[in-house]
Amino acid sequence: MTSSSDHPLPMTFNGAPPLSGSVTVPGDKSISHRSLMLSALSVGESRVEGLLEGEDVLATAAAMRAMGAQINRDSDGIWHIKGVGVGGLLQPQTALDMGNSGTSTRLLMGLIASHAITATFTGDASLSKRPMGRVTEPLSRMGASFTSSPGDRLPLTMRGACPAVPLDYRLPVASAQVKSAILLAGLNTPGVTRVIEPIPTRDHSERMLRGFGAELEVEVEADGTRIITLRGEAELRPQTIAVPGDPSSAAFPIVAALLVPGSKVTVGNVGLNATRAGLIDLLREMGGNIVIDNPREVGGEPVGDIVVTASDLKGVEPDPARAPSMIDEYPVAFIAAAFAEGRSIFRGLEELRVKESDRITTMAEGLRAIGVTVEELEDGIIIEGTGGALLPGGGPIATKLDHRIAMSFAVAGLISKSGVTIDDMRPVATSFPGFTTLLQKLGAMP
Ligand code: S3P
Repeated sequence: MTSSSDHPLPMTFNGAPPLSGSVTVPGDKSISHRSLMLSALSVGESRVEGLLEGEDVLATAAAMRAMGAQINRDSDGIWHIKGVGVGGLLQPQTALDMGNSGTSTRLLMGLIASHAITATFTGDASLSKRPMGRVTEPLSRMGASFTSSPGDRLPLTMRGACPAVPLDYRLPVASAQVKSAILLAGLNTPGVTRVIEPIPTRDHSERMLRGFGAELEVEVEADGTRIITLRGEAELRPQTIAVPGDPSSAAFPIVAALLVPGSKVTVGNVGLNATRAGLIDLLREMGGNIVIDNPREVGGEPVGDIVVTASDLKGVEPDPARAPSMIDEYPVAFIAAAFAEGRSIFRGLEELRVKESDRITTMAEGLRAIGVTVEELEDGIIIEGTGGALLPGGGPIATKLDHRIAMSFAVAGLISKSGVTIDDMRPVATSFPGFTTLLQKLGAMP
């Protein structure tokens, strides 16, 4: 499964026998991006084990190389990164091709914002539709300047400022990418950069910045607002990092095992950071039998083995406040809702409209195409569950260059009467190389 081919790769997923076995999923995408970026800003050599070797992360690696870092993978799969030091990034000689990766784009804009570098960002058709104003606005206040395509989109050229001006910024949208872009810009900015986060989002940047030796503090107010302060002109020390399995990838075998009757599956070594664990909470509320075995800490992140037993699920109306902790898991949660008993009402999900595709419309269209009754809302979706009756099936599902849509409907195929056809599985390579092999290993497909 690679997007190096120019042709779509359609695939059909059919009703499956009970899934069983123990698997692991590739490394966490968010942590992988950050480990490359912070290693590239340290003086000396960092080692990263378990790095996600998906296209999104490889786009970050290529960009960091283009700006002076030496990045190599050894034959044991360990990545070695020799950094240039904070403030030491070099002018890239060509445009930075970000492929499908919003995280690479927004975080790298932050890094470049406080360097005297001019860089052009390009991306695929999906990324070129996504809004960049949420990062260009605060980074402009720090001194960077931008020339973007209409609607603050890619292709975009930016010029960083050195020295940049420290920023005190209250996030208008709950976004870890925006928070991280500002913190990364703050690394090479004199003085203190402060981000106020009214709704908590994934905190991998904060954890890892501290781990690399940055002076970063987090204060939590009585109402849950987080105030993150970072002292600039930091010196980062090289680290050895073990990247845990990605909970957003684990979501697919977890939901598949809950839905396919008679299944019992263990997904080992999955990151369980509370800012990412919303799907597990939701599935348990729906009646899912999910047990965390062997909880432990790896490289400053909580990790565990997730044991899933097929369960009868009930419809839910989840609290929108949970959205950031499962923002990438809604598509597969909608599949669980389609197989649950009764109606599920998901609201407060406007952010899903600006992901790799408009995930509310793409999911609503896809669910209808396989015989599920849904109503699309401005900020969410209402799904009528079948109560454990097989979904009719059909397709081809238009995945619109969105890896998580492709994998969600693959899971739907496993509980369908006539199979679900996905129009193009190539985007899966952005985040989950080996997805279909993993399903085969669990006995879900031949
Ligand atoms: C990410 C943050 C989230 C998430 C994305 C990865 C990150 O995006 O959807 O897949 O690594 O910071 P937002 O910041 O847009 O919510």
